[in-house]
Amino acid sequence: MKVKRLAHGLGAEVTGLDLRTDIPASTVADIRAAWLQHQVLVFPGQDIPPESHIAFSAKFGEVDPVSFAPRFRHPDHPEILVISNKPQKGKQSETRNNGRQWHSDTSFRLAPGTGSLLHCLELPDFGGDTMFTNMYMAYDTLSDVMKKMLEDLWAVHDSTNTKDARNRPPEVLKELRKINPLVAQPVVRVHPETGRKALYVSEGQTTHIVGMTDEESTAILQFLFAHSVEPEFIYRHRWSQHDIVMWDNRCAMHLAVRYDMTKPRHMHRTTLRGEPSGYLYQAQ
Ligand code: OGA
Ligand code: MN
Repeated sequence: MKVKRLAHGLGAEVTGLDLRTDIPASTVADIRAAWLQHQVLVFPGQDIPPESHIAFSAKFGEVDPVSFAPRFRHPDHPEILVISNKPQKGKQSETRNNGRQWHSDTSFRLAPGTGSLLHCLELPDFGGDTMFTNMYMAYDTLSDVMKKMLEDLWAVHDSTNTKDARNRPPEVLKELRKINPLVAQPVVRVHPETGRKALYVSEGQTTHIVGMTDEESTAILQFLFAHSVEPEFIYRHRWSQHDIVMWDNRCAMHLAVRYDMTKPRHMHRTTLRGEPSGYLYQAQ
């Protein structure tokens, strides 16, 4: 296995592996170490069936059967979330605009997913990229005064906050809110494996800072959202068919860049269950 860095911000490419095969424990440990170090790993050329995608994912934790959004489950593989712009069951796909704002997957859960593994099955000739940003760097580059102010703050995360989610039919919003009640998460999260601090707020899913007025909260969050996506923190992935990209949601955010949606783009995602980091938020 070879690991090659892809950007100043984060990301590395991992080659020399066939993810259809049973990867030995020592290699899994090497991949895990590379994942913790680089936050985003790209495995190119993995023309593998869903069973192998799921089995490989399971080497890194328990695969969540899309408990946070069962309606987007793959009909034959409950562990897979389908992100596609192709009609599903004869209707326009509900996931065609997933991830258009910066976010960390399932940050709106009490125990957000540690990682996500996205497999590209079909893509346009150009466009349909995914961007990633390094939230350790975003934290590290704040002033000591700002770090101190953020230290003990909590912020509310809402699965239905994204512009895309807000456009969904009311019954879908109701379902998603019921499955995912509001939670508060630390604004600065300590990564349970690396011990490093990372910013943990996102434009897509964070609505306000607990205890602040709307004016205070908006001003600070707007600054943090903008600061989190400074160009030097970012890796932009231009997909090739059969890439698997595995990222760490505890210290990276991502965004699905808009493109010409008349061209098919079809992806499968697995999500790894994580440890509790938040508490149930009761609106005042
Ligand atoms: C995701 C997501 C990005 C993309 O899979 O979690 O946000 O580019 N997708 O499809
Ligand atoms: Mn996502």
